[in-house]
Amino acid sequence: MSSMPEKMISSAEGPRPVPVIAMGTATESVIAGIEAVTPSTLIEAIKAGYRHFDTAAVYKTEKSVGEAVAEALRSGHINSRSEIFVTTKLWCNSCDRHLVVPAIKQSLKNLGLEYVDLYLIHWPLKLIQDEFRGPVPIECIATMDLKAVWEGMEECQTLGLTKSIGVSNFSSKKIQQILSFAKIPPAVNQIEMNPNWQQKKITEFCKANGILVTAYSPLGAFGNRSWGHNRVMECDILQNIAKSKGKTVAQISLRWLYEQGVSIAVKSFNVERMKQNLDIFDWSLTQEELKKIDQIPQRRHGIAAIDMKAVWEGMEECQTLGLTKSIGVSNFSSKRIEQILSFAKIPPAVNQIEMNPHWQQKKIIEFCKVNGILVTAYSPLGGAGNNVLGHDRVMKCHVLQDIAKSRGKTLAQISLRWLYEQGVSIAVKSFNTERMKQNLDIFDWTLTEEELYKIDQIPQRRHFYLIGTMVTEHNDIMAEIDAELD
Ligand SMILES: NC(=O)c1ccc[n+]([C@@H]2O[C@H](COP(=O)([O-])OP(=O)(O)OC[C@H]3O[C@@H](n4cnc5c(N)ncnc54)[C@H](OP(=O)(O)O)[C@@H]3O)[C@@H](O)[C@H]2O)c1
Repeated sequence: MSSMPEKMISSAEGPRPVPVIAMGTATESVIAGIEAVTPSTLIEAIKAGYRHFDTAAVYKTEKSVGEAVAEALRSGHINSRSEIFVTTKLWCNSCDRHLVVPAIKQSLKNLGLEYVDLYLIHWPLKLIQDEFRGPVPIECIATMDLKAVWEGMEECQTLGLTKSIGVSNFSSKKIQQILSFAKIPPAVNQIEMNPNWQQKKITEFCKANGILVTAYSPLGAFGNRSWGHNRVMECDILQNIAKSKGKTVAQISLRWLYEQGVSIAVKSFNVERMKQNLDIFDWSLTQEELKKIDQIPQRRHGIAAIDMKAVWEGMEECQTLGLTKSIGVSNFSSKRIEQILSFAKIPPAVNQIEMNPHWQQKKIIEFCKVNGILVTAYSPLGGAGNNVLGHDRVMKCHVLQDIAKSRGKTLAQISLRWLYEQGVSIAVKSFNTERMKQNLDIFDWTLTEEELYKIDQIPQRRHFYLIGTMVTEHNDIMAEIDAELD
């Protein structure tokens, strides 16, 4: 077993050491809300040399971590509580000033500890949800009062419930915000980081501000079906380096992270792999290897940056070859369409987007009209009845219900007619013969000015489900979607 190097972070007691590799404890069971690891597995980690556990209220692993620490003390694997560093996190449903201290107290109760070593705000978001269930409907997402929540975090440290406080998944902009009012600045920012998502900008920012970065998903959460991918473990460059050095790809990734000066949270519940992941301290990567890793194309988990020009050329070829009569896009913002228009030989004919009386999309409709692009409205009835993609805001809308009643039409017909009058085409799904006919029966009558005015007043709300990772430094796609909300 190699000895575990440490990093220093600020704490209530001055600079305090953090063991550089933490045993992660998040598993896909988080999504199902099931306790995911037994204390005996975590005791194996202590035996293998781990002295840092990364847990969170939402992981449902605090109890097992606490029991493992207690058992390690009883059995003499450690001599005192202070030999183990415990990180836990404030879940988004407690991101209110008055809920922060009770939340850490609950975590301490779960852990059976008097203090944790590090307490992090898990995400810069507030969720209005008792228990976490993914995907999260947009109506459950709120903006948190960061100043108030940070005050709560500072209180946790002042009360001695945690030695240090920090954040997770925070952009430099959000951290700057904290720094502008903090009495105690954040000691740590825990973010997704690996050779395939190197996070140079935010790492540089944290270094300049004396904030330790902890890399999570250092192996791309390999094998995890909820938020994992195989881009790290199956990366050619890493595989070649591993082969030539007689190491595993996991070790190359972890060593690379270590050489970036960050600490790491890596999860393995397999004893051999636990040991392997610690065996990275008595060798190093060469300049040439580092340079090669530097060249790995960057891709944040879940979001691929497509080469729009090249893909559009492929689309144009489909039309030129006669394989399609027209080409277009779907779910494209005006910014993205403008990009295509700047190089397209054949401009897009259509943009298919979510659109209904509750999400009227005026800005993008106007943009498409000006540019001769037909908009096709999908989810024109709000995806009613579809448990995964749908909602009932359209079909239960009082404004539409009243109009339908007074006109002797169905609510679906009112929504479809309104769309038709907006000059868009419509994709509506029904596998019921009666409703198929009903949805076509909208062409020989019109909505009055007054009815159109009432529909215009319906409060607008995008139907957007939050899946997996949410906000990061480079998440311009989220920002772009938000810009469309104006
Ligand atoms: N702050 C946040 O928002 C956040 C988000 C995600 C994760 N985290 C923390 O960071 C920790 C680590 O991240 P992660 O769990 O997402 O992903 P990870 O550590 O990159 O990958 C874990 C997966 O890799 C496998 N694995 C581990 N070592 C291996 C090796 N040497 N060779 C081959 N496969 C190996 C594990 O399977 P076996 O168990 O079978 O070995 C597990 O399925 C989490 O557990 C959690 O504590 C924090």
